Amino acid sequence: MKTIGVLTSGGDAPGMNAAIRAVVRSAIYYGYKVLGINRGYRGILEEDIEEMGLSSVGDIIQRGGTILKSSRCEEFKTEEGRVKAVEVLEKYGIDYLIVIGGDGSFRGAEKLSELGFPAIGIPGTIDNDLAYTDYTIGFDTAQNTVIDAISKIRDTSSSHERINIIEVMGRNCGDLALFTGLAGGAESIIIPERVMDVEEVAQRLETTQKRGKKHSIIVLAEGVEKIESAGFLKDKLTELGNFDVRVTVLGHVQRGGSPTAFDRVLASRLGFKAVELLIDGKSSRVVGIKNNEIIDLPIKEALQEKKEIDKNIYEMAKILSM
Ligand code: ADP
Ligand code: F6P
Repeated sequence: MKTIGVLTSGGDAPGMNAAIRAVVRSAIYYGYKVLGINRGYRGILEEDIEEMGLSSVGDIIQRGGTILKSSRCEEFKTEEGRVKAVEVLEKYGIDYLIVIGGDGSFRGAEKLSELGFPAIGIPGTIDNDLAYTDYTIGFDTAQNTVIDAISKIRDTSSSHERINIIEVMGRNCGDLALFTGLAGGAESIIIPERVMDVEEVAQRLETTQKRGKKHSIIVLAEGVEKIESAGFLKDKLTELGNFDVRVTVLGHVQRGGSPTAFDRVLASRLGFKAVELLIDGKSSRVVGIKNNEIIDLPIKEALQEKKEIDKNIYEMAKILSM
């Protein structure tokens, strides 16, 4: 009987549990043994590993976070660390590793594959920053969390005729800010891929105010060059004009919560596909979704694709927010 190891790594994302469930249940169905590795790559090095049965993944499809815990592990970034990791995986009789995480976690999986250890990646991150797939697990739930917050802030913004800046996560990727800014009807969306000068933001505010629109929502992605933070933007705007500005940094609220139906279905499909790949004797690959079809490709190729913002959506959002 072959054994699959499964772990979650990097920033957690709603739907990771649904992916773990899909991996465990489909693997057992097809006759594999499954070992769950706690705390990502760190759990390999610390030998924090236990067998998972069908019932160990019961009642988790609706839960945010990850029952396997997650972490970031510096030691695994070293060659020595990874050689040790392979020794541990072999010691536990693990034949294949399934890694649920973002691009950093995939780089780890790629390096394991280079050492000859078969690994498969399932994209799980709220950032949606992997170019080869239309969606990563957790992005849809995070979008809905952000939109809920924007709607609430919009109420008070309108009552007080204020400018509200909402800072959202995304690391270096503007997807979360762009799509929530569009869906939340933001007047300005500022993302790393389209750096805007503070002067331009102020200009837009003045134009909308002259038209009689007294309140404005600005969705700001983290990681925008020249704009260090929402607080920085607020200070600069108040220097430039007579603006009454409030700031909300949404932070880790975006990483939690019960996954949406979309994320649960996506996670289930991707987890199932990852196991199917192993059955077909394929590894060193990642799974993803393109045009609603589940796809797979070599990890190396997936990581080489450069994530771009959808410029049509960006331009459209700009027009609709006037
Ligand atoms: P994410 O997977 O969400 O992008 P990180 O970038 O923090 O999260 O990566 C998660 C973990 O993956 C890191 O803590 C490290 O253990 C491993 N990792 C990241 N980059 C590399 C790399 N270049 N080589 C080996 N392991 C890596
Ligand atoms: O990758 C997910 C993410 O939430 C990013 O959006 C953010 O930049 C980062 O992780 C925050 O990481 P931490 O968990 O270390 O606060």
